[in-house]
Amino acid sequence: MSGAWSIYVIVLSLLVVGGSAWLLAMTAKKPEKKEGETTGHVWDDDLAEYNNPLPRWWLWLFIGTIIFSAGYLVLYPGFGANKGTLGWSSEGQLLAEQQKYEEIARQTYAKFAALSVADLAKNAEAVNLGRNIFANNCAACHGTDGRGAVGFPNLTDASWQWGGEADQIYTTILNGRMAAMPSWSAVLGAEGTPQVAAYVRSLAGLGHDATAAAAGKPRYEQICVACHGIDGKGNPALGAPNLTDADWLYGSSEATIVESLTKGRNGQMPAHGPLIGADAVKIVSGYVYSLRDQAQSTASGGEK
Ligand code: HEC
Ligand code: HEC
Repeated sequence: MSGAWSIYVIVLSLLVVGGSAWLLAMTAKKPEKKEGETTGHVWDDDLAEYNNPLPRWWLWLFIGTIIFSAGYLVLYPGFGANKGTLGWSSEGQLLAEQQKYEEIARQTYAKFAALSVADLAKNAEAVNLGRNIFANNCAACHGTDGRGAVGFPNLTDASWQWGGEADQIYTTILNGRMAAMPSWSAVLGAEGTPQVAAYVRSLAGLGHDATAAAAGKPRYEQICVACHGIDGKGNPALGAPNLTDADWLYGSSEATIVESLTKGRNGQMPAHGPLIGADAVKIVSGYVYSLRDQAQSTASGGEK
């Protein structure tokens, strides 16, 4: 608060508190007329004003308020730029509370510091904690059950764009990932794009036009192998997805594959290290790793 504002606020406070005290003193003066008499003021011919004193309790309430406000202005900030003798501030209170919660979180995470991500996935308490972190930070994109949506990968299936090993999952969450597939429309042209799309569908074992797929194959082997591999199984180092399985990030219909090729795809997983801290990242990685184990056990018939 600048000096001028501070003086302005001080003057206002003094005026209000001082004015109230003055008003009290004035009304508490011995009245000239006796109690029960009218003041002599008459309105509308017959409306007269009695000269009765303020009720005692009301007077004391008023005096109490004035004493309280003086005490408050001494102890707490409010009297211009004065900080008050208690040194309290809303910012300080917030900071103290934040530190308290950070300390609780630190102690909670410290219990699990020695465990690896794979161990965390087997620890029921850590998995519960990870589920909460997931609900607060990840569910908006990946869904409350981790099953994802178009453009947001399913974390419970066996297919992993950036790798499903414990350390790969941890790195993905800590540092984020940025997929880079440029648009191929200039290279493939209006005719080549659906042909390559047909070939991709043939790799995935989906219905396709055989002539178009045969025409698309050499283009695929020329351009796409660099990232998706000759067999279409992808490359986790580049985040290039497996094109032969049933799990699709954007979709497997010919129209959607053509759209992927025409527009390019640049999915982004935000880095969560700076957002929630490395300890929380490790615990939520354990939770995600436990989802992966679930998916594998269902895939293999449900046995553990
Ligand atoms: C530079 C590496 C690179 C090249 C070359 C490349 N891709 Fe991709 N592709 C990617 C990446 C990375 C993704 C994942 C994009 C994302 O996650 O947003 C992707 C995604 C896709 C998808 C979407 C898959 C899904 O699950 O929905 C299709 C389809 C695809 N690519 C086909 C092709 C075809 C066909 C070619 C050749 C014309 C090709 N890609 C060339 C890196 C590449
Ligand atoms: C703003 C949306 C968003 C949030 C929030 C988010 N993610 Fe992601 N995440 C994505 C996208 C998009 C991708 C896919 C990136 C790509 O296309 O390559 C992804 C990819 C991933 C992958 C890699 C999947 C694979 O197949 O390799 C993991 C693991 C993951 N996220 C976990 C998490 C966890 C855990 C959190 C919370 C701590 C989280 N994500 C929060 C959007 C998000």
